Amino acid sequence: MSMATTMLVIKPLFSPLIHHQSSRTARLHHHTIPTPLRRVPTHLPTSLASAAAAAAPPSAAESLVDDFDPELPIEEALTPPSSWYTDPSFLDLELDRIFYRGWQAVGCTDQVKSPQAFFTGRLGSVEFVVCRDDNGKIHAFHNVCRHHASLLASGSGKKSCFVCPYHGWTYALNGALLRATRIKGIRNFDVKEFGLIPLKVATWGPFVLLNFEKDVSPNQEVESDIAAKEWTGSCVDILGNSCIDPSLTYLCRREYTLECNWKVFCDNYLDGGYHVPYAHKGLASGLKLDSYSTTTHEKVSLQICEGGSTDNADDFDRLGVKALYAFIYPNFMINRYGPWMDTNLVLPLGPRKCRVIFDYFLKDSLEDDKIFVERSLQDSERVQIEDIVLCEGVQKGLESPAYCSGRYAPTVENAMYHFHGLLYRNLKG
Ligand code: FES
Ligand SMILES: [Fe+2]
Repeated sequence: MSMATTMLVIKPLFSPLIHHQSSRTARLHHHTIPTPLRRVPTHLPTSLASAAAAAAPPSAAESLVDDFDPELPIEEALTPPSSWYTDPSFLDLELDRIFYRGWQAVGCTDQVKSPQAFFTGRLGSVEFVVCRDDNGKIHAFHNVCRHHASLLASGSGKKSCFVCPYHGWTYALNGALLRATRIKGIRNFDVKEFGLIPLKVATWGPFVLLNFEKDVSPNQEVESDIAAKEWTGSCVDILGNSCIDPSLTYLCRREYTLECNWKVFCDNYLDGGYHVPYAHKGLASGLKLDSYSTTTHEKVSLQICEGGSTDNADDFDRLGVKALYAFIYPNFMINRYGPWMDTNLVLPLGPRKCRVIFDYFLKDSLEDDKIFVERSLQDSERVQIEDIVLCEGVQKGLESPAYCSGRYAPTVENAMYHFHGLLYRNLKG
């Protein structure tokens, strides 16, 4: 028996049954907790985190957090157990402790470039709408009508006001209730108390950030520098100087739905290029993988790799001399290479499902070079499809009773180890 085999922790074959039972119990228990903002007092817009804090945390999931030990050095550590990637109650805990706290990237400023532009989205159970009013001010709200909870806006586009599709209540772009239809005879109703419930919003470079945590002030938009510092921690200057180039133009969006836990995609991104020579042969030919380096910061990890060793017979080179891959905890990636920047936003849709949104930005001068753009996007798409196959395969392996935890390759997987440590600390509250 090899060393590797003796060290493997084999999960008992009956554990999935126990595990599913406890998950179900946790889910039922969780449903008895008032869902945040389901009934908000009319005079008191509240925050998700404070509502979540009032609710008892799902204890089954909390006990799973301790199945990972972040204190062990990477050379000795086990990766988090598969339950972190499969248990529905664990996702509930992640939403409460990770996604409903701090700043979260939700889109890009191009989506609300001009007055009256808006876009909608969902994170966990939070439905939100971001818009720019006629004065150019940006706002964000829970996208839920105050009458009977219908979703208000859908998709994206331009609107001078939001008219509820259900009974026609109408809201201004600053959230004020402009018109409540057919309420003749109603008592104790103050229209000023029935505006849309605001969310804290900020922009930094091309990114739109929302914060579901803190109680909102009348002026919801938070100064860019403050939000950026809170979002990226100690890495704000490095990212601002070497990663985010405001001169790049927004080009397009691609979305992928993956049958895997959101962290599987993040882990795959954070393996220090380990999988690239095996799984992305086309990409590997354009990178000097020996030059790969990783640094970790408070909430960010940076992976850098030199490009330029392309074997392409033609001179097509989308990667340039250096590729920089920045991961902003918990779920946002900024990839800077050659004339390109693309961002990946990883959204949990369920314990075994996530969506990854790619936004592409390009140097203005190349925007009209259709051949270059098309070929770059095709190459990028090929890499994504290769990654989807890997991630969905990993999810299936995580569901298997044969697997519980793995190990880290210490010289390459430190960004992943850093990510798991941040998750642990957040999940412990
Ligand atoms: S639910 Fe929106 S107007 Fe009735
Ligand atoms: Fe990959």
